[in-house]
Amino acid sequence: MSHRPNKPAFGLRLMFTALGTFAIASYAVAAAIVGDPVLGASDPILGSKHDFTGLNARAGVVAMSGVAFSDYGYSCVYCHIPPEEAGVEPASFGGIDGWNRYVPALSNYDLYDSPSLDNKTKTPNPISMLCLSCHDGTMAVDMVVFKPVTFDPTQDSAMHMKINPNDNIESCGKCHNGQVAHDITVKMLGTDLRNDHPISMQYAGLSFKDVDFRPPDTPNGFNNGVKLYNGNVECMTCHNVHDPSRKLLLRADAEVLCFTCHTK
Ligand code: HEC
Ligand code: HEC
Ligand code: HEC
Ligand code: HEC
Ligand code: HEC
Repeated sequence: MSHRPNKPAFGLRLMFTALGTFAIASYAVAAAIVGDPVLGASDPILGSKHDFTGLNARAGVVAMSGVAFSDYGYSCVYCHIPPEEAGVEPASFGGIDGWNRYVPALSNYDLYDSPSLDNKTKTPNPISMLCLSCHDGTMAVDMVVFKPVTFDPTQDSAMHMKINPNDNIESCGKCHNGQVAHDITVKMLGTDLRNDHPISMQYAGLSFKDVDFRPPDTPNGFNNGVKLYNGNVECMTCHNVHDPSRKLLLRADAEVLCFTCHTK
C-alpha cells in the first residue's frame, strides 16, 4: 500500500460515517467535569482558542460573545457536561455520548475511503464527533445540550453562529472573512471529509499488523504524546485542545508527527 505521509493535501481532519450510533461502549457514561471557572482556572485551555468565555476581551472586540454566541460564563461546558448534570446521558437528549454537544447531522458526511485502508471507518467515535460538532460548520458553537445552571436564559444571545465562512447572520464568516477579522475558512472541515486524514479507525500499527506503521509504545499511544483512544485514531490523537503549547494544538511538531505512525 502506498501511504504517503508527506502528501500535502492531508493534514487536518478525518471522516465520519452515517447514522448516529450511540452507546459506544467505553464512552457510554457521561462523566461530568467537576469544576467551575474558579476550579478550572489553572487549565491551560483557558485563554486558548477554545475558551469562549472572555473571547471578546482577548480579541479586543465587543461583538463576539453576546452577539455571535452565548457566553455561558464557564469555558468547560462548550464541550463537557456541567457538574450539576453529572450522571446524565446526553445521548438521551440527542447529544453525543459523554459530551455536552448535539450529534451532527451525520447523514451528510462523505467518508474517506481508499482501497488500501486496513480498517475502514464505519462511524466516527464520540470524541471525534465532539470536534466535528463545531468544526464541520453545520452547528453553532454555543449549541450545548446543557447550559450551566448559573446561566441566565434572558442573556441568551440573539445570534448563534457557526464556524463557517458564509456571509450571513448564522456564520462567523460574517466578520471572519479576512477583512473585518481573520478568515475562518480553514477552521471548517465541512462534511466532506474525504480529503482529510482518516479517523475513528483502529490503528493499523497495533500488533505489528502492517509494516507501514510503527507499533505504539504503549496501548495508549506513543511516548511523544500522540495518543490512541481504545486503539483508535481520533482528532485528539494528533491534537490536544488542552495543550495549546504547540502550533495548531498539535501533540508533536509537524515534522515528526506523521512519522510517529507512518514508516514512509
Ligand atoms: C493524523 C493527524 C491528524 C488528525 C487525525 C487530525 N488532524 Fe487536524 N491537523 C493536523 C495537522 C498536521 C494540521 C496542520 C496542517 C494542516 O493544516 O494541514 C491540522 C490542522 C487542523 C486545524 C487548523 C487548520 C488551520 O490551518 O488553522 C483544525 C481546525 C483541525 N486540524 C481540526 C481537526 C479535527 C476536528 C480533526 C478530527 C475530525 C482533526 N483535526 C484530525 C493533524 C491531524
Ligand atoms: C473544546 C472542547 C473542550 C473544552 C472547552 C474543555 N475540554 Fe476538557 N477535555 C476535552 C477532551 C476532548 C478531553 C479528552 C482528552 C483525553 O482523554 O485525552 C478532555 C479531558 C478533560 C479532563 C480529563 C478527563 C478524564 O476523564 O480524564 C479534564 C479534567 C478536563 N478535560 C477538564 C476541563 C476543564 C476544567 C475545562 C474548562 C476550563 C475543559 N476541560 C474544557 C475537551 C474539552
Ligand atoms: C496516530 C498515527 C498516525 C499519525 C500520527 C498519522 N497517521 Fe496517517 N494514517 C494512520 C492510519 C492508521 C491510517 C489508515 C491506514 C489503514 O488503515 O490502512 C492513515 C492513513 C493515512 C493516509 C491514507 C492512506 C491510504 O491508504 O489511503 C494518508 C495520506 C496519511 N495517513 C497521511 C498522514 C499525514 C500527512 C500525517 C501527518 C500530518 C499522518 N498521516 C499522521 C495513522 C497515522
Ligand atoms: C464548541 C465549539 C468547538 C469544539 C467542540 C471544538 N472546537 Fe476547535 N475550535 C473552535 C473555534 C471557535 C476555534 C478558533 C477558530 C478561529 O481561530 O477562527 C477552534 C480552533 C481549533 C484549532 C486551531 C487552533 C489554532 O491555533 O488556530 C484546532 C486544531 C482545533 N480547534 C481542534 C479541535 C479538536 C481536536 C476538537 C475536539 C476535541 C475541537 N477543536 C473541538 C471551536 C470548537
Ligand atoms: C462582529 C464581528 C465578529 C463576529 C460575528 C465574530 N468575530 Fe471573532 N473576532 C472579530 C474580530 C474583529 C477579532 C479580532 C481580530 C482577529 O483576530 O481576526 C476576532 C477574533 C476572534 C478570535 C481570536 C481570538 C484570540 O484568541 O486571539 C477567535 C477564536 C474568534 N474571533 C472566533 C469567532 C467565532 C467562533 C465566531 C462565531 C461564533 C466569531 N469569532 C464571530 C470579530 C467577530
